[in-house]
Amino acid sequence: MRNPPILSPSLLAGDHGQLAASAKAAEQTGANWLHLDIMDGHFVPNLSFGPEVLVALRRAGAKQFFDTHLMLEEPGRYIEPFAKAGANLISIHIEPRYDHHEVLKRIHTLGCQAGIVINPGTPASAIESSLLDVDLVLVMTVQPGFGGQPFRSDMLPKIEQIDRWRHERDLKFRLEVDGGIDLSTAQQCRDAGADTFVAGTSFFKARDLRSYAGAIANMV
Ligand code: DX5
Ligand code: ZN
Repeated sequence: MRNPPILSPSLLAGDHGQLAASAKAAEQTGANWLHLDIMDGHFVPNLSFGPEVLVALRRAGAKQFFDTHLMLEEPGRYIEPFAKAGANLISIHIEPRYDHHEVLKRIHTLGCQAGIVINPGTPASAIESSLLDVDLVLVMTVQPGFGGQPFRSDMLPKIEQIDRWRHERDLKFRLEVDGGIDLSTAQQCRDAGADTFVAGTSFFKARDLRSYAGAIANMV
């Protein structure tokens, strides 16, 4: 049985002058998830926002499942503030050197789901030993740091490989894709085994947000 598709609109492409309004607009489409991109200007060459923004979104009434993508060199230093700020899922990258297993365990101890993220240049084998520790695997389909980049179709075999491991080993993690996702590339990723779709630019630029969300939810 395949997981039903989930859309996770990326607030990075929302209006940074009124993020709570953008979050609300996303929520009103029926999308239950919200993707929050946290950048440190070090692991990625850009900055975004910190835990205070999550607190402010919650205060403004956001009820979504906060899908928090930490693009940080030292994520272990920040998981507690993000958990306290209202994150539901915290995903950390495999590429920097730290004790991934320990940080994933700590995310669970804080009462959140835990995810592992893999960059385009990193082979699937790098996360193989983390698969038992996670609720979600996030395959980057662009180099992280900026929204609005073109989808990398050369990531499709990696998605297929991770989906194959999931089935062979009877694992239950969700398989998420992030970067250059629109209705067409989402379907390609769905066919390769993905079930969770981050969309920033294509979502917030859509003429009708509700029918965009409906199209993702209805993918077979
Ligand atoms: C990129 C971020 C993405 C970004 C995706 O570093 O991880 O979540 O918001 O943006 P789009 O959908 O525009 O590629
Ligand atoms: Zn992201």
